[in-house]
Amino acid sequence: MIRPAPHIAGMAAYALADMQPPDGKPLVSLAQNESLRPPSPAARVAAMRALDHGEHYPDPDWTALRHAIAECHDIEPEGILCGSGSLDLIGAIARVYAGSGRAALAPAHAYPFFRTATEMAGARFDTAPERDLTVDTEALLAAVRPDTSVVFVANPGNPTGTRIGKDALRELRAGLRDDILLVIDEAYGEFADHLDARCFDMVSSGATVVLRTMSKAYGMAGHRVGWGLFPVPVAQEIRKVVNPNNISAASQAAAVAAIRDHDYMQETCALTAAGRKAAWERLRDAGFEVVEGHTNFLLLDCGDGESARAMDHALRAQGIFLRQQAGAGLPQMLRLTIGPEGAMEKALTLIERLAQGNRR
Ligand SMILES: Cc1ncc(COP(=O)(O)O)c(C=O)c1O
Repeated sequence: MIRPAPHIAGMAAYALADMQPPDGKPLVSLAQNESLRPPSPAARVAAMRALDHGEHYPDPDWTALRHAIAECHDIEPEGILCGSGSLDLIGAIARVYAGSGRAALAPAHAYPFFRTATEMAGARFDTAPERDLTVDTEALLAAVRPDTSVVFVANPGNPTGTRIGKDALRELRAGLRDDILLVIDEAYGEFADHLDARCFDMVSSGATVVLRTMSKAYGMAGHRVGWGLFPVPVAQEIRKVVNPNNISAASQAAAVAAIRDHDYMQETCALTAAGRKAAWERLRDAGFEVVEGHTNFLLLDCGDGESARAMDHALRAQGIFLRQQAGAGLPQMLRLTIGPEGAMEKALTLIERLAQGNRR
């Protein structure tokens, strides 16, 4: 009988959003933290042009893309690696630096794929408590064990939306052993870049990686483009396990054009922040505790797990999909992506009505 490797047989599959609207109801997807608008029109033009040369493999070194990223962030292209989404790079990091006999550590309500990637690599996944749904660097340091080899921190976090400042990240780095890789996942970084200094300079310490994605602020989730800045020796190891030709030529071309259209991305961030504020106010007025955060989503506290499931169920019955958060240890919470205006109006109106009904 064929058998999977024991560490794979023993792990749960990563829970993807389940979004089947009832018959006749159009899908309102606010479950996956996708952008409220499509990528820059320049990205579409570049992708269409690249499609005409589809007989060729894509650039395996992402040369134009790495240079566009380097120019945009004023960093060196040598340490940049690109992935088929940042998921690709998170998986590669776990395969190289976690693995059998080692462990990765993350905050209690961390992005669930950190666990999946760690377990896929055959390593143990540990967590440390958070404080007020915010990364607690002291608790993380206290949870480090002799076999800890990777610490994952998403900043801002998903699903919490909260973030810690650069000083706290520096303290965390300073408190970790030199043989522990600190991974700062800034998937939502563009939404918070105005708040304080960026973290790319921490990479020069030699054991820190900063990840970003084109899926959120650039509206390119369907293109699967993520990237990271790595110390060069770390990049050389990661490179060994990243699939060759992992990003299609059309997606690479689209990403280059999107990065160059900086104004469009910033406008997306501004529209998202305005939508987030408006939604936060409506939900708060409807009686919810809502974590506002610095991302393209809100975290809605329904009080307890049963109420969150009931709310989710009632929304789904109308084709509106938010995301339950039991997988991140927050069963009482629903995560609401800030989507296009029409979708938000439908969702918020129904949530307000349901909350009013519950109070009666
Ligand atoms: C914190 C965090 N990291 C990484 C990812 C993965 O993004 P990508 O689409 O680049 O694989 C997500 C996606 O939701 C995320 O929330």
